Amino acid sequence: MTINSSPAKEPTREILADAQTITDVEHYTQSLFRFRCTRPASLRFRSGEFVMLGLMGEPDKKTGRGKPILRAYSIASPSWAEELEFYSIKVPDGALTSRLQHVRKGDQIIVRPKPVGTLVHDALLSGERLWLFATGTGFAPFASLLQEPQTYERFDKIIVTHTCRWNDELRYGRELIAGLAKNTLLAEVIGANFWDKIAYYPTTTRQESPVIGRITDLLRSGQVCQSLGEEPLTPNRDRAMICGNLAFNLELKALLEGWGFAEGANSNPGQYVVEKAFLD
Ligand code: A2P
Repeated sequence: MTINSSPAKEPTREILADAQTITDVEHYTQSLFRFRCTRPASLRFRSGEFVMLGLMGEPDKKTGRGKPILRAYSIASPSWAEELEFYSIKVPDGALTSRLQHVRKGDQIIVRPKPVGTLVHDALLSGERLWLFATGTGFAPFASLLQEPQTYERFDKIIVTHTCRWNDELRYGRELIAGLAKNTLLAEVIGANFWDKIAYYPTTTRQESPVIGRITDLLRSGQVCQSLGEEPLTPNRDRAMICGNLAFNLELKALLEGWGFAEGANSNPGQYVVEKAFLD
C-alpha cells in the first residue's frame, strides 16, 4: 500500500554536510514508512546500532542559514549491506518526521557517520536462545540483527516478538522475516537451515489477530513459551534484547530482572540489553 498524503517538496539541491541520497521509499500505513539511502563511505557500524539522521531545517530569517534537524535512528539494514535502511513513524507535527515522510528517491538526507548503541552482540554474553522483544518501530534494530550472520552463529534459537496496536503495523516485520527465507546470501554464509532457528511471535493489542495482548502479560502468564513449545526463560540459557516504547522497556526490564537477568553494556556484556525506540 502506498499512501501519499501531501505532495512531495522539490528535492533538496543544496550541498549538505554528510548528505546521502534516498534510493527507495515504501509507505506501510498512515503512520509508518521505511526508506533506504546510500551509505556514507566512512560508516562502519555493528548490526543493531543507531545513527543521527535528519534534514536541514528552514533557513533562519536573519542569517539565511538553516540548522540540521537530527534524530537518532536505528539502522535496519545489516552491517554488511551496501545501502542503509531505516524504519520510521510519521508524526504529523513532528519536527523531523512531518517532513521526512515526504522524501522521495533522489532527495538528500543527512546521515552522521557516528554509530552507537547497546543492542549489539558485544553487549551480550553467549547463550542458547536469543529473545528479540520489540514494539512498534522498535523492530528496526532487530531487522538489522536478523540479517547478521553472527546472530545465527552465536545462538541456537532466535525468538522475535513484535507487539503493535494494529495488524497492519506488523507488516514491516512480517515481510522482513519472510524475506529471510529467500536470502541466498545469508544461506550461503551460514547454511540454508538458519531459517529454522527463527520463531516469530507477533501480537496485537487493539485488534483481533492470532495472538492478542501485550507481550509482557503473555510472558508472565506463560502463554508465550507454552505456545512456542519452549522452556521458560532463565538467565543461564537465555539472552534478550528489548526495543520499544519507554513503558514497555521498563516493564520488560523489571520482568527480566525479576527472573535474575543482568543488564549488559558494551564494556560489560550481560544477559539482556535495552534501548528505546526513538520518537520524533
Ligand atoms: P497498548 O495498545 O495496550 O498500549 P505505542 O504505539 O503506544 O508505542 O505502543 C506499541 C505497542 O506497545 C502497543 O501494542 C502497546 O499496547 C504496547 N505497550 C505499551 N506499553 C506497554 C507496556 N508497558 N508493556 C507492554 N506493552 C506495551
